[in-house]
Amino acid sequence: MSTRPNAPLFGKIRVPGDKSISHRALMFGALAVGRTEITGLLEGEDVLATAAALNALGAAAAPAGDGRWIVDGVGVGGLAEPQNLLDLGNSGTSARLLLGILATHRLTAFVTGDASLRRRPMSRVTEPLSRFGAHFLTRDGGRLPLAVTGAAEPIPIEYRLPVPSAQVKSSVLLAGLNTPGATTVIEPQATRDHTERMLRHFGATVTTEPAEGGGKRITVEGYPELAAAPITVPGDISSAAFPLVAALLVPGSEVTIEGVGLNPLRAGLLECLNEMGADVVLENEREEAGEPVADLRARAGALTGADIPAERAPRMIDEYPILAVAAAYARGRTVMRGLAELRVKESDRLTAIATGLDSCGVRVAVDGDTLTVEGNGGPPDGGGLIATQLDHRIAMAFLVLGMGCREPVRIDDGAPIATSFPDFVALINGLGGGIAAAP
Ligand code: S3P
Repeated sequence: MSTRPNAPLFGKIRVPGDKSISHRALMFGALAVGRTEITGLLEGEDVLATAAALNALGAAAAPAGDGRWIVDGVGVGGLAEPQNLLDLGNSGTSARLLLGILATHRLTAFVTGDASLRRRPMSRVTEPLSRFGAHFLTRDGGRLPLAVTGAAEPIPIEYRLPVPSAQVKSSVLLAGLNTPGATTVIEPQATRDHTERMLRHFGATVTTEPAEGGGKRITVEGYPELAAAPITVPGDISSAAFPLVAALLVPGSEVTIEGVGLNPLRAGLLECLNEMGADVVLENEREEAGEPVADLRARAGALTGADIPAERAPRMIDEYPILAVAAAYARGRTVMRGLAELRVKESDRLTAIATGLDSCGVRVAVDGDTLTVEGNGGPPDGGGLIATQLDHRIAMAFLVLGMGCREPVRIDDGAPIATSFPDFVALINGLGGGIAAAP
């Protein structure tokens, strides 16, 4: 696939449902008693991998037409041993959250994924989950494929997160559901709280209080009666980020993205774009199913470089590839700090961003976990061929980069986009974008 300069982007769109919330809606629906109806579920490959795994574990999750999904739950602790390997494809969230659930079920399961997921560290969850009494047999470095035997008599734990990760936090809290007593996670830096919000929505007791020395203590009471509850999934801000930044960069553009979830622990990108002088307006602000939602209107205009503090990283961890693209068009230097976690995403994103920008004529530097991009206040040269390395966000970010470049920007593999945003190309081209299927 490739992009080249094109006419302004213009129109109103909706982006697919939030990936984090979609995974949780399926999983918590599977652990509830009764039938959960989900509206707006993301039907991307990652979420479909979660649905398939839950079905293999004895729950029943299926589409019910017009974008709705129905999940018939088995109750907390009610999942059954799967007869075959659980293949979670590209999806880190599926793997880490499901391992939390499996860790306190009396069963043995074998879990794997694609080449990207098999490279990613799982010890960050197997280590705390072992403390509940679960047993894991993993490849070297705690990697997939792995086998998990859930604890027959789980012991509740108190766990302090060594890395700011909502997946690790959620994994431990989910293990705590089928464990007697109270399970506590201490997070020094706040990460997305969809798990806490949705567990409460299903009737669990989840308390959050300030932790000694800063951060939060999050406690879930074991053996809750989760009751099926309807869920409306908002649009994914991590997907909206791509058409949003495209509209800012292509001169003359004006795009409205309707119904975007704006959980404050996800919306760090908007803070950055605001500091860079972007014209992004929130309209029609409202609340849907316990999550703040708004329409975002973006108009093209000049951007300036900014210094992005490390403390913001957990609130926008998936948005650095597209922020770096915006920085490449901005006037002056953008410094993005505290990016160590980018090394263990679907690819080593820190290297992928730097290598890709460099191949398109952008001055870029990586120093430890800091990324610096020097923008000229206009489109970079372009002309690079980007290795997407099974990483959907690298693929989409660089297609957006090419939308103003003199030379086309090509990506070697567009297939990973389907993990989170299956209609990305059609949606961008429907706004007037020029993404070509062939190089
Ligand atoms: C996610 C948490 C983040 C994020 C991922 C989705 C989640 O990962 O990058 O895309 O749904 O909890 P980490 O928890 O590893 O930071």
